[in-house]
Amino acid sequence: MEKDIKDQILKLKKEKNAIILAHYYQIPEIQDIADAVGDSYYLSEIARDCKESVIVFCGVKFMAESAKILSPEKTVLFPVLDAGCPMADMANTADLIKLKNQHPKALTVCYINSSTEVKALCDVCVTSSSALKIMKKVDNQEIIFLPDRNLGGYIAEQFPDKKFILWEGFCPTHEKIEKESILKLKNSLEDVKILVHPECNKEIRNIADYIGSTSGIIKHATESTNKNYIIVTEEGVLYELKKSNPNKNFHVIDSGMICNNMKKTTLEDVYGSLLNMQNEIILDEDTRIKAHRALMNMHEMAR
Ligand code: 13P
Ligand code: SF4
Repeated sequence: MEKDIKDQILKLKKEKNAIILAHYYQIPEIQDIADAVGDSYYLSEIARDCKESVIVFCGVKFMAESAKILSPEKTVLFPVLDAGCPMADMANTADLIKLKNQHPKALTVCYINSSTEVKALCDVCVTSSSALKIMKKVDNQEIIFLPDRNLGGYIAEQFPDKKFILWEGFCPTHEKIEKESILKLKNSLEDVKILVHPECNKEIRNIADYIGSTSGIIKHATESTNKNYIIVTEEGVLYELKKSNPNKNFHVIDSGMICNNMKKTTLEDVYGSLLNMQNEIILDEDTRIKAHRALMNMHEMAR
């Protein structure tokens, strides 16, 4: 049955000249049928450069919207329309306009985990894998960063001479992790490294052996020689980690780290969306053009 639907998706993909993009947090079945699996930066580059006329984006809404911002001539299908990112929803344009008015000299930097409307008000976007490289190229002394106070705090720590005005947003999946549960797990293991996503708070970042994006975590574990790794990000990354490193052990804390929105997309959703060409991302063109500038600046500055 699963093979049937996979075959049908692959057939439809050819007929419709489509590419399937999936984030590392997607369920394994979705990662298996994708043409590209990656972190949000990598997927934004593929969406910008791919030759196919249809993109099926398996991830959360800001990712599919970013694909459409970068490739307005392509049809971007988003199989589950209500797969949002609670952190992105924590930033709104009215409060951002007020904050910008209070700090007229500040550069406004937004995490790609934000709506198209918020991006349209920002100077440059960043992802967790590109943020430090981009910030090194910024001359401004004052930076408004939104919506993630944790990624923002992590960046601010690396640039102590700059003044950061941080939005109070956070990722519920990464924020709920407790230091004690990681340390307990660490004490039960030998030859272990703790790999942490920068969406975790400072207390967790402080006990990390490595801090980086989903692709950074996978690369670091793959290049390290340790036997055991505690993975402090959404559990979807375990699929790629285990595939690439069959002789290493990957551990997560007992209570788990799941992003419910990332788990919503099923093979049936992808099939239905492609078959009927439904759940297309449509953006207001004026807003898209403004948001495009922030994403293009990201690609330019991350080079
Ligand atoms: P990455 O860019 O590291 O894949 O992160 C995306 C995300 O939403 C993490 O929660
Ligand atoms: Fe958003 Fe957190 Fe889910 Fe990433 S893990 S998509 S930041 S809610």
